[in-house]
Formats: sequence, structure tokens, C-alpha cells
Amino acid sequence: MVDACAAPGGKTGHILELADVRLTALDKDSQRLKRVGENLGRLGYDARMHCADAADLDTWWDGKPVDRVLLDAPCTASGVVRRHPDVKWLRRERDIQGFARQQSRLLEALWKVVAGGGKLLYVTCSVFQEENQAQVERFLARHADARLRASVGDDKGELLLPAEDHDGFFHALFEKG
Ligand SMILES: C[S@@+](CC[C@H](N)C(=O)[O-])C[C@H]1O[C@@H](n2cnc3c(N)ncnc32)[C@H](O)[C@@H]1O
Repeated sequence: MVDACAAPGGKTGHILELADVRLTALDKDSQRLKRVGENLGRLGYDARMHCADAADLDTWWDGKPVDRVLLDAPCTASGVVRRHPDVKWLRRERDIQGFARQQSRLLEALWKVVAGGGKLLYVTCSVFQEENQAQVERFLARHADARLRASVGDDKGELLLPAEDHDGFFHALFEKG
């Protein structure tokens, strides 16, 4: 889920090739996290890794605000049906609300971790409004200290619909302060 929290400081890599950051990678699924660790190791990079519920800050956060958070959120994966057509059979309509609740919970918790002036990038591979633009609207309504940063999208983030050469994808960039 959460790929990265980065703070200035020590040397790691990857995002990592582009900037001098300290990287923390989190996933509650130990197998997923293991793969992340293997990939980082293969590339010769390093990160602090936590197998944890990212919303349970007491279990992994040292209380020091970070400059950047990437929330690669659990979602219906409705944007990847081209490569994973089984998604159409496996998902039920009610799943959308379930994922939207998880996403809100993670957004709430991870916003606390972001330093003043820092940014949180919210990402899904869903094409559903409830997980994307509506999620953004609700988040902004709850947080007076959050501003949506203009990226390439409109004022509710950018949605990329699935096409021949790419999956469906959504992102919104929030800035604090
Ligand atoms: C869209 S995937 C992100 C995968 C990741 N980018 C990767 O390359 O491995 C969403 C991930 O969120 C994780 N997840 C779901 N709920 C979580 C939570 N509360 N805390 C931490 N991770 C969570 C899932 O295990 C899943 O690996």
C-alpha cells in the first residue's frame, strides 16, 4: 500500500536515484513487502521496511514528520482489467465502498505524518469516482490545511482511463500548510 515516506537525510536510492532521501516502505502483507525488499536489494538500495497497518502509526512511526508520502492505496483495481480481466468477476459493487473506507482511513492517518509544506501523493489503479475524485473532495472538506496541487489533471486530481498502451490510473497531490 504505502510505498514510501521520504525525509531528507541519509542516502538511499530508487525514487531514490533522483533525490537524496531516507525511505520507509510499508505494507501489511509480509510477502508483498518481501518482494519490495528484494527489488531494492537487487538495485543496491536500502529502505526502512515495516510490515504494519500503515494507519496504526504507533506501530511504525517515530513521530518525526516527513516531507513526502506516496500512498499507493488498496483499491478495486478496476483500472487494470485489460491485464487482469478476472477483476470483473471477482469484484462486487459493494467492494467499492469497502475500499473507499480503507482509503479514507489511510489518508487520515498518513496526513498526520506529513510535515508542514510537505506533500502526499494519493494513487489508485481504479477508475471509479468514489475511490478517486470523490475521495479527494471528502479529504479536502475534512482538512483545511490541505491544498490540491495542480498537476497535469483538473482540480480533483488526474484520471487516466485504460487504453491500449496503459492501465487506468488516478493520482492527486496534496500539499500541507
Ligand atoms: C495497490 S497495492 C500497492 C503495491 C505496491 N505498490 C507494490 O508494488 O508492492 C496496495 C497494497 O496495500 C496493502 N495494504 C492494504 N491495506 C493496508 C494497510 N492498512 N496498511 C498497510 N498496507 C496495506 C496491500 O497489502 C497491498 O500490497
